[in-house]
Amino acid sequence: MSKALQEPPSVAPEGATHTDLQELARRHLWLHFTRMGAYEREELPVIERGEGCYVYDTHGKRYLDGLSALYCVNIGHGRAELGDAAAAQAARLGFYTNWSYAHPPAIELAARVAALAPGDLNRVFFVSGGSEAVESAWKLAKAYHAATGEPRKHKIIARHLAYHGTSMGALTATGLPPLREPFEPLTPGGRHVPNTNSYRWPEPRDPLWAADAIEEAIEFEGPHTVAAVILEPVQNSGGCFVPQDGYFQRVREICDRHNVLLISDEVICAWGRLGHWFGCERYGYQPDMITTAKGMTSAYAPMGAVIASERVAEPFLHRRAIFNHGFTFGGHPLACAVAMANIDVIDRERLPQRVLEREGEFRATLERLRDLPIVGDVRGAGYFLAIELVKDKHTKQSFDARESEQLLRGFLSGELYRRGLICRTDDRGDPIVQLSPPLIAGREQFEEIESILRPVLSEAWELIAQGRRHG
Ligand SMILES: Cc1ncc(COP(=O)(O)O)c(C=O)c1O
Repeated sequence: MSKALQEPPSVAPEGATHTDLQELARRHLWLHFTRMGAYEREELPVIERGEGCYVYDTHGKRYLDGLSALYCVNIGHGRAELGDAAAAQAARLGFYTNWSYAHPPAIELAARVAALAPGDLNRVFFVSGGSEAVESAWKLAKAYHAATGEPRKHKIIARHLAYHGTSMGALTATGLPPLREPFEPLTPGGRHVPNTNSYRWPEPRDPLWAADAIEEAIEFEGPHTVAAVILEPVQNSGGCFVPQDGYFQRVREICDRHNVLLISDEVICAWGRLGHWFGCERYGYQPDMITTAKGMTSAYAPMGAVIASERVAEPFLHRRAIFNHGFTFGGHPLACAVAMANIDVIDRERLPQRVLEREGEFRATLERLRDLPIVGDVRGAGYFLAIELVKDKHTKQSFDARESEQLLRGFLSGELYRRGLICRTDDRGDPIVQLSPPLIAGREQFEEIESILRPVLSEAWELIAQGRRHG
């Protein structure tokens, strides 16, 4: 049927009401990673305003944004100065590309990012988000090896459960089978190794065995075929897995031994999230590339970057090699202006230092929940923490798929939201509740988080117990 004969597309009236928005969303908006059928019956959460650590829905109800809008809004909501920076830039130059041309905002931001990044990570390739950053870093690793006489080095090693994005290359690095399988065949060359989740290591083992597993994988694949290893400083997916002491130093040695590039995927872990400008600084290692996005602009504009070392950039600067890769919007001037204003705020308000000063208090608030029978583990670093939920604290027995579905999607996520807390409930590994508040959060927000989590987790336990009683 031609579009003219169908129902006319609905047009949002000026100042659409809550009901209009629900209806228009149902008809026209395609949500990401969302079972949209659920919203045929239920109301879609529509967030229309934000201020500090809080956001407001179209009913005017307030929520504590315990997830910084998907690990993004590091400086908090409602910072009009970032919009002012974008408006000033739009008036001067709304857009020009970074393909063979440059513009002042990209040049100035690249210099500022290079000055902040550790060691000789001095060359910045701008993109528009995390998947583009990961995609670009892997391609750059391949291009670097080809330009330095090792064209067979093309594979990438990542960890089980790790999320590195959804475009086909980034998805190949992502270690989550349910996200990968529907889109196979993926880009050839992905390989996965164990992560650092020591809570679930099957028996006592050498603390650096997970690092050594990377070397085993490189040797198995053949070092002459491996281009890069990609790791987050703290692995998000699975629930904030921190590295063992010395893990990254061992990985660095392994990468050097086999001429494999180390990519630190800091789409979440940079810009103060772990108490430093970059996550690798917290654990004292020097990567060959950092991939970043999200907090770079506090997500007031879409932007990401690959920050490359002098060594990685060198073949493309003084020799004939060219990195044949790019995106129209990489280094968009408005996004650059927003990033500059965002970095001004992080710097002025000493947000990384603030996180270091307060992370202990945040952690202690969640640790108090360990008295609940359902809380198995509390882990993470900085303002990036997770609680793992278990059926039996002593044996660490987890919930089966049916219980996990009932617990997370059937109860927790809806109930926490209803009581005014946005956080992540997830079972891509074992079931977890994850918190990653804006870096301006303090005692008031920590206490609010606990005051909502405690009763909801207690009720969740009751629900599971009831389910068990009724078979
Ligand atoms: C570590 C990591 N890498 C890559 C990505 C992909 O970023 P994007 O969703 O901006 O494409 C994410 C997204 O959460 C991430 O956490």
